[in-house]
Amino acid sequence: MESFLIKGGVPLHGEVTISGSKNAALPIMAAALLTDEPCVIRQVPALSDTRFMARILQSLGATVKFERGTLTIHARKLRGHGDYELVRQMRGSVCIMGPLLGRLKKARVSLPGGCVIGARPINLHLKGFEALGAKIEIEGGYVSATAKKLNGATMFLGGRAGSTVLGTANVMMAATLAGGVTVIESAACEPEVVDLAKFLNAMGAKIAGAGSPTITITGVKKLRGAEHEVIPDRIETATYAIAAAATNGEVTLKGARAEHLRAVIDKLEEAGVRVERRGANLLVRRNGRLKAVDVTTLPYPGFPTDAQAQMMSLLALAPGISIITERIFESRFMHVSELARLGADIEIEGPSAIVKGGRPLSGAPVMASDLRASAALVIAGLAAKGVTQVNRVYHIDRGYENIDGKLRQLGARIQRVEET
Ligand code: EPZ
Repeated sequence: MESFLIKGGVPLHGEVTISGSKNAALPIMAAALLTDEPCVIRQVPALSDTRFMARILQSLGATVKFERGTLTIHARKLRGHGDYELVRQMRGSVCIMGPLLGRLKKARVSLPGGCVIGARPINLHLKGFEALGAKIEIEGGYVSATAKKLNGATMFLGGRAGSTVLGTANVMMAATLAGGVTVIESAACEPEVVDLAKFLNAMGAKIAGAGSPTITITGVKKLRGAEHEVIPDRIETATYAIAAAATNGEVTLKGARAEHLRAVIDKLEEAGVRVERRGANLLVRRNGRLKAVDVTTLPYPGFPTDAQAQMMSLLALAPGISIITERIFESRFMHVSELARLGADIEIEGPSAIVKGGRPLSGAPVMASDLRASAALVIAGLAAKGVTQVNRVYHIDRGYENIDGKLRQLGARIQRVEET
């Protein structure tokens, strides 16, 4: 297993190009299952998650070619169920259910278990499929959805924490080939849902309202192959912006989309960070001393839960008390105890973390527990005095393309080593 060795204390400087969005690419790859014609998807990040999804699509019978960020997927013939083991290992793969149900009127996948950040049930996905007329069965660790015919319906997909991103994506994909009109209320408004709808419409679907809480899908008989370029990754953008601020550097984020990051930019500016739009780029640097701020994670356009851990690393450096409240996932504070190893002073009170910021951090061996927690530990290590060893970086390779290479490009002293 690999680790990162980070010698901290170097302000990041220079330019970095933002990769395509993992959370847009995964459902878009699954959507290619809706047609028997080839689909070409560009700006797909080279990550273990996208490679994994490619293997799952192949296990369903599709051919997949990945060259220099461009994927060609051709699902000429399809099997109704994916490789149990493969699907079980990556939660995001649950979004193959909608396309399989839409095209084959049957889908059977391993029930995704919980993960370290929360229970993560899929009851809302299944509620949507049932509303379209599918029969749902859970047996032997599998969940299956079958239907003679899918019929459009109006449904409310809001849950405990508000809307569901992949739930909206899954039901939207199934509804593209259903008879009649489907209306999803309390739909997720994330840019990744909008990007998926754009690709589906390029395939001949009739989707309106993506990006708003009410999405209307008029079913069609058949979808065709299409070409699409995936949006830049807004969470990768937020991660590099926060790293620039935490190290008191100055970084240009090439190809970043500021309009997808309003809540993050707003909180960074409140915390004493300057974020300037320069054409298709963002320039990020400190604007004097860091300041403590309160952050609450919410569905889009609120502050993204996927940037919560990284923001905590920054606020550990800001003098004063910051309160970070996690409203989306019930146990997404695994990084707190690891940040404490680097000297941060953070207490958990129910859904909130009380950050007493301003203490200098010092390097130590720490353990990554999930994708975004590992990004937070890398940021803290870059800001800390001395050497930090971040173990189990396979977590970070799931969602960040060549992060150590990109950070070295910005002057960071980071190495990828075999874990000792
Ligand atoms: C997507 O997960 C992202 N993953 C997550 O990013 C992200 O954290 C999350 O959206 C929220 O923004 C991908 O796109 C692959 P949800 P998803 O359904 O769709 C509850 C990362 O770091 N819920 O919007 O699985 C759920 O438990 C990952 O890149 C139900 O109760 O998240 C959670 O509390 C981590 N029932 C809340 O809703 C359901 O049927 C939001 O989950 C579905 C969800």
